[in-house]
Amino acid sequence: MGLKIVIFGSGRGSNFQSIVDAINRNKLNAQINAVVINNPDAPMIKKAETNNLTTLVIDNTDLSQGQHEDKILQELSSYEFDLICLAGYMRILSKNFIEVVGAPIINIHPSLLPAFPGLHAQKQALNYGVKVSGCTVHRVTEEVDAGPILGQRCVPVEEDDTVDTLARRILEQEHILYPEIIQKIANGKIPI
Ligand code: GRF
Repeated sequence: MGLKIVIFGSGRGSNFQSIVDAINRNKLNAQINAVVINNPDAPMIKKAETNNLTTLVIDNTDLSQGQHEDKILQELSSYEFDLICLAGYMRILSKNFIEVVGAPIINIHPSLLPAFPGLHAQKQALNYGVKVSGCTVHRVTEEVDAGPILGQRCVPVEEDDTVDTLARRILEQEHILYPEIIQKIANGKIPI
């Protein structure tokens, strides 16, 4: 049983899959009670359905942020959860949503925050010329990619790195870091 989580995503779903795999390998004491996806074309939908998880596709097209969030809150009210994990979720959450949803929210970001928040973090890191980048799991607050840091993993930047090669190596570390941090939350090692 363990920690009851809900995962939010918009796209590929590789971090989502890493959480599923960690649960299946008994490395993570958690259960996924629902998956929320805002993009009806997201490959993550198939991944969630293949794993027989409750998959709530809540399209934001033609909805204001408030309307979309109200819909999510309404749908989630049927499920129990202790934690929300954003995994490639491309919508910004409002202060109101964060306050009323009823569980802490965490996110994974492909840089060593507070460096390079926002979109295209790997490209920002390469353009800046940093020699070390990585990934961060942090608490979600109103300000994008700025909440308290819960864990990080480093990735050296190679001289011949492109955005793709760097992103790929960071992603490998994301897949290790995210389930580890969720497990630390599950066993109380990270208070949240
Ligand atoms: C990851 O790089 C994550 O850090 C960022 O968005 C990407 C999502 O990839 N927030 P995936 O959907 O988990 O494969």
